[in-house]
Amino acid sequence: MNVLIIGSGGREHALAWKIAQSPLAEKVYCVPGNPGIQRLKKGQCAGLNIKDFAAVSRFISENGVGLTVVGPEDPLAAGITDTLRKEGHAVFGPVAAAAQLESSKAFAKAFMKRQGIPTAAYEEFNDPDAAIAYVKAHGAPIVIKADGLAAGKGVTVAQDVDTAVRAIQEAMVERIFGDAGSHVVIEECLVGEEASILAFCDGTTVVPMVSSQDHKAVYDGDQGPNTGGMGAYSPAPVVTPEMQTRIEREILQPVISGMAEAGSPYQGILYAGLMITSDGPKVIEFNVRFGDPETQVVLPRMKTDIVPVFLACCEGSLHTLTIEYDEAPCVTVVMTSGGYPKEYKKGMVITGIEEAESDPDIIVFHAGTKERDGALITNGGRVLNVTARGATLRETIDRAYNAVRKIHFEDVHFRNDIGHRALARG
Ligand code: AMP
Ligand code: GLY
Repeated sequence: MNVLIIGSGGREHALAWKIAQSPLAEKVYCVPGNPGIQRLKKGQCAGLNIKDFAAVSRFISENGVGLTVVGPEDPLAAGITDTLRKEGHAVFGPVAAAAQLESSKAFAKAFMKRQGIPTAAYEEFNDPDAAIAYVKAHGAPIVIKADGLAAGKGVTVAQDVDTAVRAIQEAMVERIFGDAGSHVVIEECLVGEEASILAFCDGTTVVPMVSSQDHKAVYDGDQGPNTGGMGAYSPAPVVTPEMQTRIEREILQPVISGMAEAGSPYQGILYAGLMITSDGPKVIEFNVRFGDPETQVVLPRMKTDIVPVFLACCEGSLHTLTIEYDEAPCVTVVMTSGGYPKEYKKGMVITGIEEAESDPDIIVFHAGTKERDGALITNGGRVLNVTARGATLRETIDRAYNAVRKIHFEDVHFRNDIGHRALARG
């Protein structure tokens, strides 16, 4: 069969790379895709508008697509799965009602409260004056979150009351996130180490993948504003086998049973962003899709063919499969355009990817690239994800940075300390 991936970033390149290894996949289409995906032997990008679900449905019918995998959250929240399923297509990703776990923080918090899933204490506000009064009464540190989708940038972890008040004004009065900020959630600040668990779900069964950890801040030492993710590694040693069991029992299982009881069985990837606290795992957020850049370190470790896993999720037969992973760790370093996550330039010529990939344990996933007159140029904030496999974490990190040093474009930025927390644990 042919497979279609929706999206265009590093996550989608990693999905295409993994799906292309399946003997079941003839062609791997990607809408809109990127040059890295186009360069795969089975890869083919198509310039459709992913907001036009009717056009996507026609594309599926006309191109013998037997499975569609949705990368980003926006089309899921807008109901791409609902529409394509009605047309009889197999789609991996939740329906819009279930995607509210990510698209509305207020929905997610109320759901967790009902299900008894551990998370930070919180209050919701529609009125900026009431929100400011709450923050002044409560004190800092405190966390301010725009309710809707804000591309990972709608969260402020405020260490003092002034910063919290400023974040409320920006979201609710100045509307820097548009309507996503008309409603805010104010949360208790959790203390601990973060980890991400991505799990395959088929509506009744949930099967977690190996753990990973993202690095959200733009500068070394976790300084500077939050980004979509500056690098990741897998496994995350903070997720011990005992912690993994608790995560499954206290978080993943109750999500699957709660969503089924609510009449929106959860099918697709459930991404739990966790804080591992001294009281155990607590949910920071749910996402309803593969993480970016976590996918770039989890999929290279997966030994099992992923296409039957996706199909089993669509058919409700996930319990029949065993999914295996390599023990060896994986690390990805995100190379960005200077200035990201704020203003940055596009159109810089990129060189050195082939040299970097001359090491068979390096894969360079494209995130924001474009071809112009046969040359590869930068076309986004996050440009490349340089991914390494190795025997130990130290060796893997060194290998990733060796490859990063072979790749050049003007104004490049990357963090030098990806994996630092895991190294500190020894
Ligand atoms: P989110 O978009 O909800 O994942 O939040 C972005 C980042 O803000 C998270 O990865 C955490 O680093 C931080 N964060 C969010 N909520 C909390 C919280 N309640 N306590 C501490 N840090 C948080
Ligand atoms: N790496 C964070 C995310 O995918 O939301």
